[in-house]
Amino acid sequence: MTRTLTILGLESSCDDTAAALVRVTDGMPEILASVVHGQTELHAPFGGVVPEIAARAHAEKLDICVTQALTQADVALSQVDAIAVTAGPGLIGGVISGVMCAKGLAASTGKPLIGVNHLAGHALTPRLTDQIAFPYLMLLVSGGHCQFLIAKGPEEFTRLGGTIDDAPGEAFDKTARLLGLPQPGGPSVEQDALKGDPKRFRFPRPLLDRPGCDMSFSGLKTALLRTRDQVVAEKGGLTRQDRSDLSAGFQAAVCDVLAEKTRRALVDYLALNPAQPTLAVAGGVAANQAIRGALETVCETNGVRFTAPPLALCTDNAAMVAYAGAERFLAGHADDMTLVARPRWPLDRKSPALLGGGKKGAKA
Ligand code: KG4
Ligand code: ZN
Repeated sequence: MTRTLTILGLESSCDDTAAALVRVTDGMPEILASVVHGQTELHAPFGGVVPEIAARAHAEKLDICVTQALTQADVALSQVDAIAVTAGPGLIGGVISGVMCAKGLAASTGKPLIGVNHLAGHALTPRLTDQIAFPYLMLLVSGGHCQFLIAKGPEEFTRLGGTIDDAPGEAFDKTARLLGLPQPGGPSVEQDALKGDPKRFRFPRPLLDRPGCDMSFSGLKTALLRTRDQVVAEKGGLTRQDRSDLSAGFQAAVCDVLAEKTRRALVDYLALNPAQPTLAVAGGVAANQAIRGALETVCETNGVRFTAPPLALCTDNAAMVAYAGAERFLAGHADDMTLVARPRWPLDRKSPALLGGGKKGAKA
């Protein structure tokens, strides 16, 4: 007998308010609707995400997103089987907005409530988009997170390494601020780097001299600041070309670090799972074409399948939350009205916590 599950997902853990409907038919997922309302303009004057502004905007926009998603999917709320919501990790005010909205919907309709780990949402996206079988190696690389995970099941992840300070997306955002480029910094630095010479400025490749898969990106931003100030002191200002060369040099350093650490993570992963040579990437930084290209090359060289979701599913969205909720629900898990919003929520509960807490929420 065919088993169909229609899940409404909500996402509000950072600066995107999102709702989506995902239908899973006999294990085969389909995105019926995915609505994302970004908050870029709201935070632009402040040069970064302001948690209170984000939380208030989520509270205002969540029900609008839900209505739009239901309308686009042509699904009535009564036809939804369960309500999934990001319950952490993230900026706590935003996470609370989402959890309260989901609880209200669950209470008024009597539908099951499923709390989803935002990182699991990203980490399971390759299953939503490409039906990748467990296990696979996952590089989660975004504005608040950077870690290598072995995905073994919907709620079973082993972390091989991660950033000990800033996430790469955060480094891109800070670099954009230092160079006077618009936020979010990732896409604008990537565009600017296209016109630059990546070899003119040589930035450090942090932690490559140490074994293992841990990474560090905060020193890179300091090096960029120092180099920028040096150029300004020598020439009295930055030309467009100087700026593009700085962008390109910075991006090349991030690429090199991610590529080399990925190569090492693959060695560790393949030693444990030789029969499943797959690397998946997700998170906003996975939208970067240069980084994707560098990772693809590492995979090709090592005979590993590379998979990356379409750009709209790399950045924050609710389709990944609905799908992760469906996986949890199908595995027999659901929550109730005691579900709490969590600022920190590591995917791998056995590994020691990584250091640092980024502007986009705690690293886990
Ligand atoms: O996954 P995401 O939407 O939000 C979380 O951090 O969870 O990722 C957003 C981050 C931002 O820091 C943004 O600058 C970065 O991803 N990003 C990029 C690119 N597009 C977005 N970084 C580098 N290159 C890009 N093309
Ligand atoms: Zn995210």
